[in-house]
Amino acid sequence: MDIFQISGEKPLHGTVQVSGSKNAALPLFAASLLSDQETILENVPDLSDINFMAEILSELGAEISRIDNNTWKIKPTSISFRAPYELVRKMRASVCLLGPLVARLRRAEIPMPGGCVIGHRPIDLHVKALQSLGAEVELSNGVVKVLGRKLRGNTIFLGGRHGSAVTGTANALMLAVLTPGKTILEGCACEPEISDLCKMLIRMGAQIVGIGSHRLTIEGVSKLDGCKHKVIPDRIEAGTYLLAGAITKGEITLEGVETSHLGSFLNLLESIGIHLTKKENQIKIYPPSDRLKPIEAVALPYPGIPTDLQAQICALASLIPGLSVITERVYPSRFMHVPELQRMGAHISIESSSAIIRGTNQLNGAPVMASDLRASAALILAGLAAKGETWVQRIYHLDRGYETFENKLNKLGAEVKRLPESELPNSVSINNN
Ligand code: EPU
Repeated sequence: MDIFQISGEKPLHGTVQVSGSKNAALPLFAASLLSDQETILENVPDLSDINFMAEILSELGAEISRIDNNTWKIKPTSISFRAPYELVRKMRASVCLLGPLVARLRRAEIPMPGGCVIGHRPIDLHVKALQSLGAEVELSNGVVKVLGRKLRGNTIFLGGRHGSAVTGTANALMLAVLTPGKTILEGCACEPEISDLCKMLIRMGAQIVGIGSHRLTIEGVSKLDGCKHKVIPDRIEAGTYLLAGAITKGEITLEGVETSHLGSFLNLLESIGIHLTKKENQIKIYPPSDRLKPIEAVALPYPGIPTDLQAQICALASLIPGLSVITERVYPSRFMHVPELQRMGAHISIESSSAIIRGTNQLNGAPVMASDLRASAALILAGLAAKGETWVQRIYHLDRGYETFENKLNKLGAEVKRLPESELPNSVSINNN
């Protein structure tokens, strides 16, 4: 396991290229199984989650190869309906294989995705969608078994207690495109990653109307072709670099970003006094001329502020004097980063699903433990701004979702070293088990 050693208090300056979106790419890999022909995916980020997905597709029988660092070729001429437990358990997103396998083979068997450190992550909405389209679903010995003998289009309401399910919407869509008749998905997720999936499905020959809205209408077709598709830029990676700029009082230009995907988040940054200039595919953040204002933010489904930026926003708020309140509505208990930020001197208390943060002028470097992907990013941001050295353990979480994070940060002037865990000095070692 690798660790990061960060020497803080270095303002970041320069330009960073945004990579392709992990959460768009993963369902697109699954969607390639809907056709027996070749699909080429471009702008795929080089991440461990993508490699897991590629391994799963290969185990299912697809021919899959990497043309270059960010381009994959997938040819699923003949595939199996049974996904391997050892690989599926490593990644929750493998649940989005259910829709394509049932659509193509009328059958799927996938081990139930496990619990998750960011909170309760049920699959009831996925099951509801499959059943509403006529599939029989059974949970047996920890495996979700689906038979799609009599599939037919239907109208399905996909909203849940915490909003609409993103991969649940992806599954419903991928099944509906090859299900006879008309399907209407109401209250479905409208995240840009879902719109990207719709666009790829249309390239493959699917009929979908209402892209970008909470109501998708799908007319089932009998067969889909392969296609060539470019993955959208990662809005969460982009937001993380903007927060790295804000927390170090630096000046960063993001290239290759889709600015329209970040509306509520950019609005939040501007509302606390951050100066930005925005073009369609470029955003520049400037060092603040005055003290930033405390943050009041609520993480919500799109187009709200993304839950996947909530931890990193908490890191910034820890360094803004005054009282900030950051509420999480998507995963109400996604606050694993809080005790670790506290080690660095942040004053945070959790009240229900809100972090109440009394900002300070300085954080101090400390040994901290990453618990999940976005928590790791938050701790690294805090480390970039903190006085002294921060040691972030369990960096493998970060490698799931940020392409060459330390290289991109170091190019901006940060001092981040990736080291084997054995190089962690005994004096800074922590054990959270
Ligand atoms: N939910 C249900 N029932 C379901 C499915 C979800 O109640 O059947 C609830 C969840 O408990 C949660 C909310 O709905 O409260 C949102 O869950 P959702 O299903 O939308 O999340 P997901 O599809 O499993 C994707 C991203 C997450 C991101 C969320 C929310 C992928 C591969 N993952 O997860 O990304 O946080 O949407 O935007 O797309 C990350 O990248 O760090 C990450 C966790």
